[in-house]
Amino acid sequence: MGLVALVGSFVLLLLLIFRASTWACLFCFTTHEERLSLCRMFVGSEDSKIRKCRDALTDAFEGFSDMEINYDERSHLHDEFTQMTVFLQEVAAVQGEWSFWKAFTSAAAKLKRTIEHLKKAQDCIPPCGVQEAARRFHCWGCFSTICDLPLDCPVQDMLVNRGDQALFSCIVAFQLPESEVTYSWKYAGGGVRTQDVSYFRDLPGSHGYLARIRPVQPRHSGTFSCVILHDQRPLARLYFYLNVTGPPPPEETELQVTFREVMRWTPREAEMIQPWRPSLGELLTRPQALTPGNLLLLAAAAALGSASVTVLVWLLIRWYLSGN
Ligand SMILES: *[C@@H]1O[C@H](CO)[C@@H](O)[C@H](O)[C@H]1NC(C)=O
Repeated sequence: MGLVALVGSFVLLLLLIFRASTWACLFCFTTHEERLSLCRMFVGSEDSKIRKCRDALTDAFEGFSDMEINYDERSHLHDEFTQMTVFLQEVAAVQGEWSFWKAFTSAAAKLKRTIEHLKKAQDCIPPCGVQEAARRFHCWGCFSTICDLPLDCPVQDMLVNRGDQALFSCIVAFQLPESEVTYSWKYAGGGVRTQDVSYFRDLPGSHGYLARIRPVQPRHSGTFSCVILHDQRPLARLYFYLNVTGPPPPEETELQVTFREVMRWTPREAEMIQPWRPSLGELLTRPQALTPGNLLLLAAAAALGSASVTVLVWLLIRWYLSGN
């Protein structure tokens, strides 16, 4: 334990030293050669004078050492540093009453004002997601970081009464990129409440940020998941646990409920996608869909069909007889 603490504080000490002296915005946005040639223009080629000039330049930008900027603004800031270098070269060329030290401090003050007016990076919005709008560039190491949040969002529990509608909104609180955002939906059936990827299968054909099931049946209970992708890269995974409650309607059997559901099926609802519920057409074209339950359903549909035909024929006969 003691050793770990010792190594830890040593690393911390190193970080502090480097933070203070080695890295800063100046070093992220100007090259060693640029700084060297700038000082040559001010003081000539004598080593000790150049060292003094470089120290003065570093000191002038000391206050920028642990600055954090919006990652999207770094090219803007790079331009500002380039302009500053050009300006300082012009000052060096005329020299006049300007000492390099004065030139550096006034350039640094000007740049500081620019940095203060850069667009700020957005705050990280918990609890989940890859939030590019909140990416920050750190001058003390010339690197960028993103919010330390998981890809998986917590499961949202949805208690829906049997027969009602379940609506899933794949919406996050943080700002998404402006283009190439796509959604893909997955489902883990059998009433499981899970975030384990291996339980999920794709729901092909569902690409919107909204998905709906209507009417909800107990067999729909399980976890629905929506993945938000940007250019194929996942930004967040949302989970909805659908818990179907409520007793079955007293006067209906399970078969009748299922049957009515098939009859209610409309193209508009098909758009919203429930691929695990085969339509009548799919039942006929996919032999593997003919499970005992589905066969029963088909039989019921056939029975209703033939009953209607019988009634129609009977009405025709009555009409024919009454005409005579
Ligand atoms: C589903 O909802 C019921 C009623 O609120 C509750 O008792 C049950 O624990 C829930 N199931 C799960 C898995 O959360």
